[in-house]
Amino acid sequence: MLRLEGLHAFYGAGHILHGVDLAIPRAKVTAVLGRNGVGKTTTVRAIMGLVPPRGGRVWLDDDDIAGWPPHRIARAGVAYVPEGRLIFPDLTVVENIRVAERVPARQWTLTRLFDLFPSLAERARNKGSQLSGGEQQMLAVARALATDPKVMLLDEPSQGLAPLVVRELARVIARLREEGVTVLLVEQNLKFAESVADEVCMLVKGRRVYQGTLAAFQQERETLKANYLTV
Ligand SMILES: Nc1ncnc2c1ncn2[C@@H]1O[C@H](COP(=O)(O)OP(=O)(O)OP(=O)(O)O)[C@@H](O)[C@H]1O
Ligand SMILES: [Mg+2]
Repeated sequence: MLRLEGLHAFYGAGHILHGVDLAIPRAKVTAVLGRNGVGKTTTVRAIMGLVPPRGGRVWLDDDDIAGWPPHRIARAGVAYVPEGRLIFPDLTVVENIRVAERVPARQWTLTRLFDLFPSLAERARNKGSQLSGGEQQMLAVARALATDPKVMLLDEPSQGLAPLVVRELARVIARLREEGVTVLLVEQNLKFAESVADEVCMLVKGRRVYQGTLAAFQQERETLKANYLTV
């Protein structure tokens, strides 16, 4: 579905990604883990075309989308939920969703979104700024879904959320997988990542150092954690 091959990315002269290889299978949840500053967000931004890759390939099915502008990548079916959510504070819940729709959603209509996110349905006419952190995160995911994506890139969605809301987020991500959406999940919260992931990848200094199934990861969990996660 989505495959990165030898991806390089820079910020100015700073060489951040040093040839990242990742396989992100269709209709599965692939978690990307790693310490602060290893290049997780840069990887997601490079997939989306927000940081133009300077080497390597990004295969979306049979197309190499590396070098495409972000709007074209979005139209090809990739949706991005950035770290920090970035919803519009002055727009209502419904307006936040409507502005994201390129054409009226076919798969993820407002009715289906509100079925997936009952808490947002209750807040439909509230402004973004009036929502709790958890509701803002759900809205950010709903807004991304309104583009009917094939692939969803989620950057640290659990950040700053209460445990109950994190569980709700896990339920939503499991539903997305059931609906056939391919999910790339960047996370620092290992417990949450393990509760939803099918595949686990780990980055260190702009390189992938591990990829395996959740079961394989869990067998080596303590070693991998000590080597690549804890500081
Ligand atoms: N806009 C930028 N300009 C210059 N350097 C940047 C920029 N954004 C990130 N960097 C640097 O690139 C490296 C990778 O950053 P990135 O945000 O991809 O890491 P991350 O793995 O997402 O970290 P975190 O866990 O803190 O979110 C870091 O050294 C960071 O300082
Ligand atoms: Mg980041």
